[in-house]
Amino acid sequence: MHLLLKRFLVTGGAGFIGSAFIRYGLKQIAHCEKIVNLDILTYAADLRNLASVEGDPRYLFVQGDIRNEPLVERVCIQHDIDAIVHFAAESHVDRSISAPRAFYETNVGGTISLLEVVRRHPHIHFHHISTDEVYGTLPLDGAFSENSPYRPNSPYSASKAASDHFVRAYAHTYGLSTTISHCTNNYGPCQNVEKFIPRMISGCLHRQPLPLYGNGGNVRDWIFVDDHSEAVWSILEKATPGQVYDIGGECERRNIDLLHSLLNEFATLREEDPHQLISLITHVDDRPGHDFRYAIDCSKIKQEIGWKPLHDLSSGLRKTIAWYLENPERLKLA
Ligand SMILES: NC(=O)c1ccc[n+]([C@@H]2O[C@H](COP(=O)([O-])OP(=O)(O)OC[C@H]3O[C@@H](n4cnc5c(N)ncnc54)[C@H](O)[C@@H]3O)[C@@H](O)[C@H]2O)c1
Repeated sequence: MHLLLKRFLVTGGAGFIGSAFIRYGLKQIAHCEKIVNLDILTYAADLRNLASVEGDPRYLFVQGDIRNEPLVERVCIQHDIDAIVHFAAESHVDRSISAPRAFYETNVGGTISLLEVVRRHPHIHFHHISTDEVYGTLPLDGAFSENSPYRPNSPYSASKAASDHFVRAYAHTYGLSTTISHCTNNYGPCQNVEKFIPRMISGCLHRQPLPLYGNGGNVRDWIFVDDHSEAVWSILEKATPGQVYDIGGECERRNIDLLHSLLNEFATLREEDPHQLISLITHVDDRPGHDFRYAIDCSKIKQEIGWKPLHDLSSGLRKTIAWYLENPERLKLA
């Protein structure tokens, strides 16, 4: 970045990835002077994710809506913010299928509100957290890159794609300083139990059925959440404004294979027989319009920024399962 960014407004910082990003920054980034976390606290938020940083004088929590422009503007002025890192979103694909409008309102409307504030304060850099799902689905081979066309297939990915386009258009039209990153599926501590990996850990612990969409053949790339956090901090430090980066974990797996790896790691940690866990797998009807495969070619961020994922699947899964076993109350549905 042309300037060293020091004071950050993080949106959605009480969620899974935003909270990991805040914990990572306060621990690892020496020039981080301040992080203000603006979060409305939806069902997906959990302030326990931030218990370890609550006493840090560089950290401040503000409960509020990203769509409240006067509030966002006040926070930016009061804390002399020089970068907004935008995680806040409705993020669960299944919920977007049953109730799409909230995804449009938060993910598109909320992003426009933040961009409007940056338009009035153009010294603020805007980093937009997006997803590989905006590119749609792949056949068995090939990988998405920053130049892939947008083909979102779910209401969730359509709302993220629309928000990406607004970021690009605001940068182009108003000359704002922006960067965008598209990341693959994250996993790690503090993820809401509605998501695949914690739901499976919960099923193992409570000996409940482990529901798997279709035949489990859909393919995803998995990244440990701290690797995603490190990638975004590296972009904030080193990227040229206007650039887009794809972030991947280099851990492509069919869902069924991921689940088997998880069950084996769980069984090893608990000294149990993995076959009993495998017998809990229950195939359920596939999600409508379920994308078959996502894969990311992350060579651009590796070459330009010098970042690469540090966790392979077994080390990431071990850390994740160990964390949930130490925090079993986090496996209860709200
Ligand atoms: N989880 C993944 O695997 C993944 C992968 C790629 C990209 N992403 C993107 O990363 C971001 C964070 O994902 P996550 O999994 O941590 O989501 P999450 O659902 O765990 O957290 C979202 C947070 O945003 C907050 N929020 C929602 N609406 C808000 C509003 N109007 N104002 C203020 N705060 C609001 C929620 O309270 C919650 O704390 C999202 O933009 C998502 O699209 C997620």
